Amino acid sequence: MKEELLSKIRDRRAVIGIVGLGYVGLPLAMEFADAGFHVIGFDVSQRVCREIMAGNSHIQDVPGETVAKHVKAGKFEATTDEKALGRCDAISIAVPTPLSKTRDPDMSYVNAATETVARNSHPGMVIVLESTTYPGTTREVLQPRLEEAGRIVGEDTFLAFSPERVDPGNATWHTKNTPKVVGGVTAACTEVASALYAACIDTVVPVASAEAAELVKLLENTFRAVNIGLVNEMAIVCDKLGVNVWEVIDAAATKPFGFMRFTPGPGIGGHCIPLDPHYLAWKMRTLNYKTRFIDLASEINSEMPEYVVRKVARALNEDQRSVKGSRVLIMGIAYKRDIDDMRESPALDVMRLLEERGAQVDYHDPWVNSFTENGHTKAGVALTREVLERADAVVIVTDHSGVDYQLVADHAGLIVDTRNSTSKLKPSKARIVPLAAIRNTDKA
Ligand SMILES: NC(=O)c1ccc[n+]([C@@H]2O[C@H](COP(=O)([O-])OP(=O)(O)OC[C@H]3O[C@@H](n4cnc5c(N)ncnc54)[C@H](O)[C@@H]3O)[C@@H](O)[C@H]2O)c1
Repeated sequence: MKEELLSKIRDRRAVIGIVGLGYVGLPLAMEFADAGFHVIGFDVSQRVCREIMAGNSHIQDVPGETVAKHVKAGKFEATTDEKALGRCDAISIAVPTPLSKTRDPDMSYVNAATETVARNSHPGMVIVLESTTYPGTTREVLQPRLEEAGRIVGEDTFLAFSPERVDPGNATWHTKNTPKVVGGVTAACTEVASALYAACIDTVVPVASAEAAELVKLLENTFRAVNIGLVNEMAIVCDKLGVNVWEVIDAAATKPFGFMRFTPGPGIGGHCIPLDPHYLAWKMRTLNYKTRFIDLASEINSEMPEYVVRKVARALNEDQRSVKGSRVLIMGIAYKRDIDDMRESPALDVMRLLEERGAQVDYHDPWVNSFTENGHTKAGVALTREVLERADAVVIVTDHSGVDYQLVADHAGLIVDTRNSTSKLKPSKARIVPLAAIRNTDKA
């Protein structure tokens, strides 16, 4: 069974199924199609499947032409019919893994996808979970369900975990050239899953178990969350000391070894960094262990929007204004630079906190024309001289490139700059309040 599957992968006869065609699933589907496989995408969303079959891409990093090319050539199909998965030899699952309201793992999507895959499984399949999750999920959740469906994992069915490392908007590192870690439930599972990914990804990194692979992803994202938390705390420290945090970081980064540059900001966003470490924290709570670094980083990072809003309130106060009734313009609503993804964006928290205090908040974001939150749709405003002059405060939350920050500084009265976007501008009329107050150093 193993040899037959390896041979199908080698000569591209293997039919690939991708469950969940989002930020992770669609780019992966395109890599398999580019490598010469026939790919079936299964998604519960009719809208997503319709768009794809019409030759469009709903994911920023995947060009519509690539989708159209593969659909037209009959190499890629997207469907809501789960029976299509029965035609597959390999299935990668990339469905969401959010947190519940109590910040515990919400495994409902993984459970539903597992049921679907198990129902449509047959001997001679390799099945890989890509969704970020707690260590143990592949073995404890997927394996038993597949065995209930009659599969023998490690013998006629090969099961592994392989974390996705998609970085939306990253022009250098994408699905194909980012090394891919693969860990199987058995050694044979690792071997087959590694062969599968090696067919379309430049570098595959096999590890000894599914648990190791699950933990790799959590280490990577916890590392980022903790270091961002550290540097955010450093911004608060610098604020109290009146030292320029950006100067401190830039100077520390001249050390050629032993230091890695992270930058502070208004909080963390996206589908990964704010959420993934909680999967590990939750798992460890079930084993009576408290992951203190995760909890502390999360506490500091999630307090940053409130910190920013306090800065805005203090700055308006210095202008004899209250937050209530002030017009505030938020620059950048997406969670990070040069993408349109708003999931968990700290800008939404900044906006909500300002509105709760009675401010009238507009936003400008070249990547997000409008968004809907809690049933309310809000449209962005154009960046014009009038909009800037009308604002009592401008808050730079996400520093998209291509934005004319000189225009902002020339026409706004007050700017709270959480990203250091204004440090290199020509002198302007705006009063600029940085993330950390600068007193002891010479600003010029
Ligand atoms: N977005 C990223 O940058 C990123 C990076 C690395 C890892 N991840 C992880 O990858 C996983 C997927 O994230 P994403 O960003 O691609 O999510 P997404 O929301 O962009 O896409 C998920 C897709 O799965 C579909 N879906 C939901 N339930 C389904 C089901 N039962 N069967 C079939 N389809 C279903 C949805 O309709 C949606 O189209 C998550 O675990 C995430 O943590 C995401």
